[in-house]
Amino acid sequence: MEDKIRKLAEEAREAVAAATTDEQLDAARARFLGRKGKVRELRQSIPDLPEELRPEAGKLINQTGKQLEVLLEQRRQALVGAPDEEQAAEERLDVTLPGRAPRIAGRHPLLATMEDMIDIFLGLGYTVAEGPEVEDYYHAFDALNYPEDHPAMDEQMTFYIEDDVLLRSQTSTVQIRVMAGQQPPVRVIVPGRCFRRDTVDATHCHTFYQLEGLLVDEGITFADLKGTLQAFAEGMFGPEVKVRIRPDFFPFTEPSTEFAVSCVMCGGEGCRVCSQTGWLELGGAGAVDPNVLEMVGYDSETYTGFAFGVGVERFAMLRHGITDIRVFYGGDMRMLRQF
Ligand code: FA5
Repeated sequence: MEDKIRKLAEEAREAVAAATTDEQLDAARARFLGRKGKVRELRQSIPDLPEELRPEAGKLINQTGKQLEVLLEQRRQALVGAPDEEQAAEERLDVTLPGRAPRIAGRHPLLATMEDMIDIFLGLGYTVAEGPEVEDYYHAFDALNYPEDHPAMDEQMTFYIEDDVLLRSQTSTVQIRVMAGQQPPVRVIVPGRCFRRDTVDATHCHTFYQLEGLLVDEGITFADLKGTLQAFAEGMFGPEVKVRIRPDFFPFTEPSTEFAVSCVMCGGEGCRVCSQTGWLELGGAGAVDPNVLEMVGYDSETYTGFAFGVGVERFAMLRHGITDIRVFYGGDMRMLRQF
């Protein structure tokens, strides 16, 4: 019996060693350890032995079965780890090839411009406020002192979600939300996306960015507004730049002005970019209308303030010599990779 067991173990070892695939290993397992396998066959022959030899035979057969299990498992692991010649050839690494340079993304020129604008105002002690792009009619118009059906609303034609709910056409809506939530002094800037039903052309888009500024405190005058716009323009375009303010109209500021800088391309001589005028219009501004202050619960006898709003695309275009606003929104990688 001992001989038989040893022979079987030898035979099994050879079968396992010869297996080179999972299927062959499974077959070897079935042949030796299966329900009709050779180990079981031997075990079933134990009762034929003389009684005193039976325990020893049983022990040997069990040991052999266990060893065989271990061998099978080791072989299986070895097969998994074994390199597949073909695959290895395919995956071979040629360390002499030049490396692939990682592509590092740049900031979108609009975002970069907006961040630089924000930096200037952070330096002047402003904080950044935000408000919803989807606004209600009250914040969009009523609270900004637009009389019902006033022609000034024509410039603010926007997209309506419901009769009373719309996409904001200017960041000025956030003035109201900020003031309604705190008492003076207020000193905030509001960068954000706006929407208008403007016909898309080289300088207009249905979606664009503005940067709003609002300052309310005791004793604030128009001179503070002009000085702030000058500091802002110099921060963006350098110390040579001149600021021009001319009368304009916005329902929420009184008096209101348009805000322009001397053309940064020609220095004010007149060129194609400034349409030969020497000036570039950048946005609107003015002293906060007392009606607006009262509407948010401020005492307009004690407090005065100023506000301004500029288009971010306009700044980015001037900065980079871009002549068509649409390139910002085309998602054209040839343009974006330049930044
Ligand atoms: C306003 O939107 C006022 N809220 C500005 C303001 C703020 C006045 C605070 C007083 C106090 P205006 O409609 O002029 O003003 O727009 C300001 C700037 O936004 C424009 O100069 C322009 O640069 C930009 N802008 C307006 N419409 C578009 C558009 N469709 N596409 C791109 N930029 C636009």
